[in-house]
Amino acid sequence: MQILGICGSLRKASLNMAALRACSELLPQGMSLRITSIADLPMFNQDVFDAGIPEPAKRLRAEIAAADGVLIACPEYNFSLTAALKNAIDWSSRPPNQSWQDKPVAIFSVTPGPLGGARVQYDVRRILGQLWAHVLPRPEVFIGASASKFADGKLTDETTKKFLADLLAGFKPWIERMRVKK
Ligand SMILES: Cc1cc2nc3c(=O)[nH]c(=O)nc-3n(C[C@H](O)[C@H](O)[C@H](O)COP(=O)(O)O)c2cc1C
Repeated sequence: MQILGICGSLRKASLNMAALRACSELLPQGMSLRITSIADLPMFNQDVFDAGIPEPAKRLRAEIAAADGVLIACPEYNFSLTAALKNAIDWSSRPPNQSWQDKPVAIFSVTPGPLGGARVQYDVRRILGQLWAHVLPRPEVFIGASASKFADGKLTDETTKKFLADLLAGFKPWIERMRVKK
């Protein structure tokens, strides 16, 4: 089972990316994670799309299409998702063959504040829902107070690791359940 990881933060020292990397060590048996980059996508422009999908967007669309599931780690910017993540979704959402159709997705978020990105997750769910992605309803993982949970760019908090492991363990049967016969 191949999972594609997407991080909504472009920051070099992103804690969402650090948590996504930590997921590689927390996967249930039979699941593997490859993390892609959305940093090289140009800003979505329908004229550019119509003239020929740029290589980074083509690559992302193919990666999502090929994955059995997508794991999104997203910070909260102004109570919602980052422009980078929305841009990645926009590039991969346009027909033909929009990439999110029937795609199982799991989400978590990391923020320095106490709520851990509750609001961003509901916006991402709303957006992906209308693209017919199947977002895992539970467990929800909100990693707040991040300053105390990471050290030297690594996730160190054992309780948080357990929450992420539970999310991934729940994602596996969700992917099996949502698999569409083609
Ligand atoms: C433009 C901007 C808006 C932000 N808005 C919020 C917010 O609404 N809620 C929140 O919890 N954190 C907010 N933050 C803080 C981010 O959650 C924090 O920078 C987070 O660590 C970014 O994730 P990263 O470490 O993966 O880059 C904001 C940060 C930026 C740069």
